[in-house]
Amino acid sequence: MAIEDFSSFPKEYEEFKKKFLDISGIDLNFYKHQIHRRVHMFMKRWNINSYDELLNLIKLDKDKYKAFLDYLTINVSEFFRNPERFEILEKEIIPLVMREDKSIKAWSAGCATGEEPYSLAIIFEDLKIKKFPPILATDIDQTALDKAKLGIYDIKQLQNVHPQRLEKYFLRKKENLYEVIPSIKERVEFKKHDLLNDPFDRDFDLILCRNVVIYFEKDVKEKLYYKFRDALRIGGVLMVGNTEQIFGYKEMGLKSIKPFFYQRVK
Ligand SMILES: C[S@@+](CC[C@H](N)C(=O)[O-])C[C@H]1O[C@@H](n2cnc3c(N)ncnc32)[C@H](O)[C@@H]1O
Repeated sequence: MAIEDFSSFPKEYEEFKKKFLDISGIDLNFYKHQIHRRVHMFMKRWNINSYDELLNLIKLDKDKYKAFLDYLTINVSEFFRNPERFEILEKEIIPLVMREDKSIKAWSAGCATGEEPYSLAIIFEDLKIKKFPPILATDIDQTALDKAKLGIYDIKQLQNVHPQRLEKYFLRKKENLYEVIPSIKERVEFKKHDLLNDPFDRDFDLILCRNVVIYFEKDVKEKLYYKFRDALRIGGVLMVGNTEQIFGYKEMGLKSIKPFFYQRVK
């Protein structure tokens, strides 16, 4: 098979998607076409010449399976990604959604390796938001979640952390490695969850779903936004990524209150 030509062998790819769904529970049909290219890039990288060879490999070799998932889902993240958005979140959105008892029910959906929910936890700690309920942080990728729970990061992922916060909320492990302190870790509850197939909890004050839906097809994306709308309480806010916007948000009962922040109004 000419690995470079990822659009050839459509029948084989359809078969591959079915078999991969059986193995992983992940339905690649929901993902954009670029995922097909990534499958092939992975195959090229590891010298794999057919889909069956790839399937056998990921069935037999747990590490390769994890590497493949990592490669497909591109779980890069960083603390306070797009810092100007986090500033608005901290100064304007959190005061808006906070409940009378100073609690916030928040969800980081597609949290990857934990930088996003821990950033939120740091803000909550500074603003003295109640520790209960913990921030729900979910992802489809168990390897990413395992790393998130460890809470150890390279300095490169911490570039947007204010020096005072770095000092207060991280322990320096080695030259370039920092660990989130226990009181921040305790504020986050990590769980494996597939946004496309698993049920959503309800009554959230705040949902962050950033740089996740970019991989999904248009209609899948739209259905997902409706599910997020239902998961918010009226008045709750959904924060999306810096390159994302929700088309038809008004029909969904959402109001755009700032760029990339949508409030449920009905
Ligand atoms: C680029 S990361 C985003 C991390 C973080 N939200 C941020 O903006 O920095 C995308 C994450 O979406 C997750 N993901 C992809 N498909 C998913 C699905 N169906 N359900 C839950 N998470 C999914 C991936 O595993 C990956 O960790």
